[in-house]
Amino acid sequence: MAAVQLVSALGRRAMCRWTAAGDRARERVPSAGHIRQSFVCYFRDKQRHREVRSAPVIPRGDPSLLLVNAGMNQFKPILLGTVDPRSPMAQYQRVVNSQKCVRAGGKHNDLEDVGRDLYHHTFFEMLGNWSFGDYFKEEACRMAWELLTEVYDIPQDRLYVTFFGGDPALGLTADEETKEIWLSIGVHPHHLLPFGLAHNFWEMGEMGPCGPCTEIHYDHGVGKGAAAQVNTGNPQLVEIWNLVFMQYSREADGSLHCLPQRSVDTGMGLERLVAVLQGKESNYDTDLFTPILDAIHRGSKAPPYRGLVGDMDPDMIDRAYRVLADHIRALTICIADGLYPGMTGAALVLRRILRRAVRYSVEVLQAPPGFLAGLVPTVLEILGDAYPELKQDPCQIMDTINENEAAFLSSLHRGRRVIDRTLQKMDNSQSFPVDVAWSLHRNLGFPLDLVSLMLEEKAVIMDTEALGQLAKEEAERLRPLPQSDLQPDRVLCIQDISELQRTGVPRTDDSAKYIYKLQDGKYVLSPCQATVVALYDNNSLVKEVGQSQTCGVILDQTNFYSEQGGQTHDLGYFVREGHQDVLLPVVNVQAAGGFVIHTVSVPESLHVGDRIDLFVNEAHRLACMVKHTATHLLNYALRCVLGDHTEQRGSHITADRLRFDYNIRTPVTGQQLETVEEIVRDVICRDEHVYTADVPLNQVNCIRGLRSIDEVYPDPVRVVSVGVPVEQLLHSSDKQHTSVELCCGTHLLRTGMIQDLVIVSERQLGKGISRILAITGEEAKEARELGRILAEEVDSLSLRLDNGMKSLVDSQRLSKEIGQLTDVVDGAVILHRDRRQLQERLRALHRTANTAIRKLESRETISLGLWTATLCKDGYIWEEGKSPEYGLGGHSNTATS
Ligand code: SER
Repeated sequence: MAAVQLVSALGRRAMCRWTAAGDRARERVPSAGHIRQSFVCYFRDKQRHREVRSAPVIPRGDPSLLLVNAGMNQFKPILLGTVDPRSPMAQYQRVVNSQKCVRAGGKHNDLEDVGRDLYHHTFFEMLGNWSFGDYFKEEACRMAWELLTEVYDIPQDRLYVTFFGGDPALGLTADEETKEIWLSIGVHPHHLLPFGLAHNFWEMGEMGPCGPCTEIHYDHGVGKGAAAQVNTGNPQLVEIWNLVFMQYSREADGSLHCLPQRSVDTGMGLERLVAVLQGKESNYDTDLFTPILDAIHRGSKAPPYRGLVGDMDPDMIDRAYRVLADHIRALTICIADGLYPGMTGAALVLRRILRRAVRYSVEVLQAPPGFLAGLVPTVLEILGDAYPELKQDPCQIMDTINENEAAFLSSLHRGRRVIDRTLQKMDNSQSFPVDVAWSLHRNLGFPLDLVSLMLEEKAVIMDTEALGQLAKEEAERLRPLPQSDLQPDRVLCIQDISELQRTGVPRTDDSAKYIYKLQDGKYVLSPCQATVVALYDNNSLVKEVGQSQTCGVILDQTNFYSEQGGQTHDLGYFVREGHQDVLLPVVNVQAAGGFVIHTVSVPESLHVGDRIDLFVNEAHRLACMVKHTATHLLNYALRCVLGDHTEQRGSHITADRLRFDYNIRTPVTGQQLETVEEIVRDVICRDEHVYTADVPLNQVNCIRGLRSIDEVYPDPVRVVSVGVPVEQLLHSSDKQHTSVELCCGTHLLRTGMIQDLVIVSERQLGKGISRILAITGEEAKEARELGRILAEEVDSLSLRLDNGMKSLVDSQRLSKEIGQLTDVVDGAVILHRDRRQLQERLRALHRTANTAIRKLESRETISLGLWTATLCKDGYIWEEGKSPEYGLGGHSNTATS
């Protein structure tokens, strides 16, 4: 009844463009684009949800994930309660989006299944609606049902709904509330089924928010008896939508606690929904895939796709079609988001996807090299409107695929030779050595099933269990670190934050961290006094801590910088009012949910309510400020030299050095790095003003040339501009030739204090990503000086080499010295280009020394040989294998004849 009222009140036809297109759309079969859009439109326009863009597939600051695998990933800070209250995310209550997801590594790994059946994918789109402390079960179920049955017009009798049937062992009762809601909506009791923990209880990870879920399944055509087929793996009865009710938090000890704020997290696979609405049983028969399958047919000359699986597809042609269609979508999405095939973590996952695709393309479909990359434009036609970032640089996506394909094809060739050579050495009864198979996988990047297939072709057996064990060990190594291993000192978890909120602890005002001035050429930080508002002893909130303890301290205000934006936290100490002689060292500062927590060593006691004087270690802070402003200049200079496509991929700033990761298309040359340094030094010499201002988020987009990274910024957001006042930036439509970034870090007020910047190391982290380490100020000067000293050492060695290669002993000593100096040069903090030059010169010296040593050795051996031969003539015999190694080989014959 309620559903009917809801629908009639809002007017079904007015609800959404898709329905407005009504019958016309149904006649034509709705396109995937239309279905995606109508989902968003329903929740945005009718249910007042905020539309949020898909996050990139590289997780934002979440080391527990390899790749984004669910719509809720980007909203984790809200669910965990750690969201910065100034972030627009903190205001989210109702959200809708379509999220790019990849499940090909880690907990959800579908890679090897893709292609074998009609429904597994590595890349898929997850449609979702969220309520963060807003509506809960009743509204979530009603909205889902209305959308499916009223907007998309899916017949109700095709739908089956599951709910959580309880788990007595965990003390969890059945979710009767959800069951009653569905019954009141009108779901037939025979279509409503209870399931246990495995199917109907959703957990984000080993710890954290979780709760019962209710799933909606679609019957493609089982008909009678379909209820018994739900959750049995029957491909005709598929789950299409999962509605999770986050109401608990799983603790480290396994217990469940009620969450302070209940949330709804729903996820519906677009591919499955499109299959339902386009009347297809296979996702691959929808317009999300058919244009790619057609392109494969046109380009490879393989027989047309027939949609067959298993024994019906003995030559694996259809499997290959599906593998390619799926993998090219994943490759395009991941590479566009800045991921490159590599050897670790997510990059390794992408490498495997690429190699699997190449293998099926070349080996099964016998397509020419370059064919795979040629499918990218078709992917852009299908997904480019929904995810415009794909259209930014398609050539780069194709180049990356082509380069990696070429590398794999050459390893394939080498791999075959390795297998053939190994087989030649084996007798027929032996099984193929597992270490060789593993090395093909690990070093030449062969997918494991390819190794097995190649051996199968040659009718050779292998200990697959042992190989599986090695794979398991590697998977263990790849497993992201558990959160507990990643947390430095005291951090606040969701329970802490909700407890702080509940007990009325005020959020920390840390605006004083930005208050400092230049006085007589020196930076002076503002003094700060504060009151202790909360204390943690281990994991408990306490009123006081005793002597010699390390505890977590929350103050009403602080001028300490907490770790964020790549900049390390401040160090320093507290002093209790009236106890001026006792310092309380601050060793870590972290922020979460608007609270700043200081990890402090307490030599005497400390109480809630104590007044504290705060002393930030100024030298440490200033060094971080120098490095942070220098990082912005480096970012700007790299873009000037390498081009506008250069994007920051990460950074880390400590008092000693700065680290900057960025994307590259081709390896960076020494000359380019030198120009980068020159540009930075030029800005340093001009001693430019560094302007900062808080600007509403919706205004920053008009600043041309603004640098930002993929992060959720607070509103208002801090803009840091070198040389041009922020006001001026906001009122100018010209592109600014200076560094302008969104950044929460602490910066110098003028660039001169950086003094100098040198790049001490540059190396490629993986394909397409480079990492620079740089130092500044006095350290930079010292690095130049050390470079000069080491160059003199190399000069002197070179001179001694010219003069001192008379005897074998001398030469060997010089060679050893060259080795020692090489070690020093390798490890010294000197300019990157100096190191390169010195290493090159040392290599040349090594070659010269070794040649000389060989000659001298051979001379000595020859004289030894002549001497020994003389002995032979006199009755001694050559011992086997002791004939002279170098030079006149005829001696032995002469001697033995
Ligand atoms: N988080 C749930 C899932 O991934 C619902 O979005 O299925």
